[in-house]
Amino acid sequence: MASLPSLPSTPISQEYPKWTPDHALDLLFHPDIIPVQVRRELHPDLHIRPLSRTDYNRSHLAVLSILSVVTDPGLSAYQARFDLLRAAPRTNFTLVIIDKQSDQIVAVGSVFVEHKFLRGLGSVGHIEDIAVDPKVQGKKLGLRVIQALTGMSEKEGCYKTILNCSDKNIPFYEKCGYMKKENEMAKYN
Ligand code: ACO
Repeated sequence: MASLPSLPSTPISQEYPKWTPDHALDLLFHPDIIPVQVRRELHPDLHIRPLSRTDYNRSHLAVLSILSVVTDPGLSAYQARFDLLRAAPRTNFTLVIIDKQSDQIVAVGSVFVEHKFLRGLGSVGHIEDIAVDPKVQGKKLGLRVIQALTGMSEKEGCYKTILNCSDKNIPFYEKCGYMKKENEMAKYN
């Protein structure tokens, strides 16, 4: 008789007692759109998933604050913003990488899909707000976030994926397969 595949000796819930699995969360988009290859390449202590409505309690804003000014809006305003993003289907894709031991966010990133009239009603993916917790920078989490967002942009049919960054981050994005093209203009209010 063929032997059965062996089961893990410790159930996942005991290995990671704090970790909240996807099925117990209210997510921004369906997790299946995240490329399988990126999931496979993550360390088993980490998990990549869509932003959840309760990620206010998982250091989402603290991780983002390494990128720019973040003011605490409070839980209900955070969740109102989440609901606003989710109300526009196939447009806002924010994902997070979770440390399963702590159930806290260690990396975040977004792709905004702009639905155009040109190029046969084409779409463009805009990568925004990439941040990795300084404690775990240099471990390829930024790369995994960009690979996931780029794959999602492609799956959504975008004919290109673009982003703005400072000169110091150009080498990082080149390692992620991006190249410098054109210029950015900005006017702050
Ligand atoms: N200069 C040169 N190379 C770099 C840099 C850099 N600033 N950052 C990363 N790399 C290289 C790494 O050495 C690695 O190269 P390797 O494959 O040869 O080993 C490769 O890029 C992948 O690096 P990761 O380990 O994935 O990078 P990390 O997880 O640290 O994430 C990030 C990089 C996102 C820039 C992180 O340092 C960070 O959060 N910085 C602060 C916030 C920030 O600047 N975010 C980006 C804003 S732009 C935007 O949001 C569109």
